[in-house]
Amino acid sequence: MTEIQIEDLPNVGPSTADKLREAGFGDMMGLAVASPATVSELADIGEATASKIISAARKAVDIGGFETGDILLKRRQGLLKLTTGSKAFNELMGGGLESQAIIEFFGEFGSGKTQIVHQLVVSVQFPIDEGGMEGHAIFIDTENTFRPERVVQMAQAHDLDPDEVLKKIHVARAYNSHHQILLMDKVKEIAREYPIKLLIVDSLTAHFRAEFIGRGTLADRQQKLNKHIHDLQRFAETNNAVVAVTNQVHSKPDAFFGDPTRPVGGHIVGHNATFRVYLRKSKGNKRICRLIDSPNLPDGEAVISVTENGIEDS
Ligand code: GTP
Ligand code: MG
Repeated sequence: MTEIQIEDLPNVGPSTADKLREAGFGDMMGLAVASPATVSELADIGEATASKIISAARKAVDIGGFETGDILLKRRQGLLKLTTGSKAFNELMGGGLESQAIIEFFGEFGSGKTQIVHQLVVSVQFPIDEGGMEGHAIFIDTENTFRPERVVQMAQAHDLDPDEVLKKIHVARAYNSHHQILLMDKVKEIAREYPIKLLIVDSLTAHFRAEFIGRGTLADRQQKLNKHIHDLQRFAETNNAVVAVTNQVHSKPDAFFGDPTRPVGGHIVGHNATFRVYLRKSKGNKRICRLIDSPNLPDGEAVISVTENGIEDS
């Protein structure tokens, strides 16, 4: 499938294309829905030029905007639910993690965020009637925490061939926030080749937090994160996929990190198509999952265990 690239737009030469990509506007839809002021500022190009480029992008993609209710209903009926490995946790989430949405797992170090996303890259390969999605997974790894050995353990616990399971997990390291955003272009490419039903970003926020420090840069950080999350949301919708991201927060609120239930990107991650799960450690291998501010589910808690087999009921 050939798609129009940003280079194909009038007023966009190679160097402008580079600037746009670097600013996170590498994809036509992202560009089409951006404001001239934002594009001008982030990509460092004149506002008049930015405005022309955006108009051209809008023409190139049909940004539409309106859909009739029957189509929306049909799309919602196509929603899939991905098993977490724990019945109690699935129930808390309304039957599993919903496709076409972003699920944010946040909690302090060791609270189980990375363990859960490892379970998900295995679960997504299960048959539909076993809570899977019969699909592949993409794992964007920002902290070098992906462990194939752990996947092997979890696959074996479910009588799956570990090699086959590993072959359906597409892993990329993201070396900084900029690279993390750019990888979304590659993600879309892979999704044209394989039936990607799950996209993991572990961690969504670590690079952003490390790179943007100090008051003056917070707005910039939030804006870049916003664009990234917007990209993730669109990926979830166009692929009927689950997007699961992690976000480390400190359990003891302090002046810098503030309220732990208000993590970095909280206001934006708190969009309507997003589920937020706060994880905290309990005795031994037990972890408490708390669903917060869900659009259509009651808030509540579930207890899970992290075992050799993966995520299970406690
Ligand atoms: P940060 O990335 O540091 O913020 O933490 P996290 O929330 O990602 O924590 P993670 O998911 O890495 O949880 C680590 C915990 O999972 C460990 O302290 C162990 O308790 C548990 N764990 C990790 N690997 C295994 C395993 O192979 N078997 C069992 N039973 N538990 C494991
Ligand atoms: Mg982790």
